[in-house]
Amino acid sequence: MNFQNEIINWYLVNKRDLPWRNTTDAYVIWLSEIILQQTRVEQGMPYFNKFLENFPTVVDFANASEQEVLKLWQGLGYYSRARNMLFTAKQVLTHHDGNFPKSYDVLIKLKGIGDYTAAAISSFANNEAKAVVDGNVYRVLARYFGIQEPINSTVGKKIFAKLAQELIPHQRPAIYNQATMEFGALQCKPKQPLCGTCPLQLGCYALANNLVDVLPIKLKKLKVKERFINYFVTNQEDIILTKKRNAGDVWQQMYDFPLIETEVEVDGNEQEFVNEVRSFFGESAKIKLISKKKHILTHQIIYVQFFALENYMINFNLHAEIKSVSYSQFEELPQPKVINDFFEAYLKNKPK
Ligand code: ADE
Ligand code: SF4
Repeated sequence: MNFQNEIINWYLVNKRDLPWRNTTDAYVIWLSEIILQQTRVEQGMPYFNKFLENFPTVVDFANASEQEVLKLWQGLGYYSRARNMLFTAKQVLTHHDGNFPKSYDVLIKLKGIGDYTAAAISSFANNEAKAVVDGNVYRVLARYFGIQEPINSTVGKKIFAKLAQELIPHQRPAIYNQATMEFGALQCKPKQPLCGTCPLQLGCYALANNLVDVLPIKLKKLKVKERFINYFVTNQEDIILTKKRNAGDVWQQMYDFPLIETEVEVDGNEQEFVNEVRSFFGESAKIKLISKKKHILTHQIIYVQFFALENYMINFNLHAEIKSVSYSQFEELPQPKVINDFFEAYLKNKPK
């Protein structure tokens, strides 16, 4: 028997009875798929039931307030997903007369519906032969067919999508999609898959080649580095201490303020930090937190804090990089956006 038939037969015996599987209502399937993108089946079930009770149809959903939707979504996290759902429901109401679309080509144009969701809805509700590729499916295909391309590389995604689409049985797309996901969730699990009782044992590449624990391969995301930069702004009228940023770091060649970078966030009272401030700006220097800002870049998150600096002394021989300029001179210099935003607000709010 081939891969597809084995999986479907396994499914008919082993499937869980899940409420969204007993319907071809595209709205109900949409609800369940969006919730299940956010959480596991057991945790998602009560949310699914609550949403359906409160909004039996997509028209009810579309007429809800954002607050109601967010309240029902509460606890699932990633709240923009809930807002997008409301947007989608309204689109369905206004552009589709309140009839939730069932065809892939129409679904994919709705906001918040990507390839995965469009394939799921169109296959489950409309028996369209669109392959659903979620984490479960990636795992099953990678192991059974021995695909060693990373599932999250551009090339890998294409290979898996193509294979999945080739495998889909055109007579039974809905059940095959459900079956493959369920097989990945219950049998070919991420950890300790049940190879001993697996009906696909004989043809499984990973099992034969001792690669079950290795596949699927996933590229590690570059770890996002967190940095804590503390800036100092003099409170002297019309004087700004500034310095040009060096090459080899963010915002190169632009101008910011004297700074102390720390390993963790400080509030300005830590002894070690105070000592550093004093060795920089003299023993009598006093600082006070003005504002903070989280700045997100591709590979780093920079937590920026601005401190007002009083009673400072600065040794310009020791700190030749630092220049003292007027406000208008400072405004002429190229600055990182964080600095520019801060400075504009600072000038506006300064006590006259
Ligand atoms: N996870 C995502 N979609 C699912 C579905 N239809 N059934 C079970 N688990 C799922
Ligand atoms: Fe997955 Fe093991 Fe079955 Fe292969 S034999 S498909 S690794 S459960």
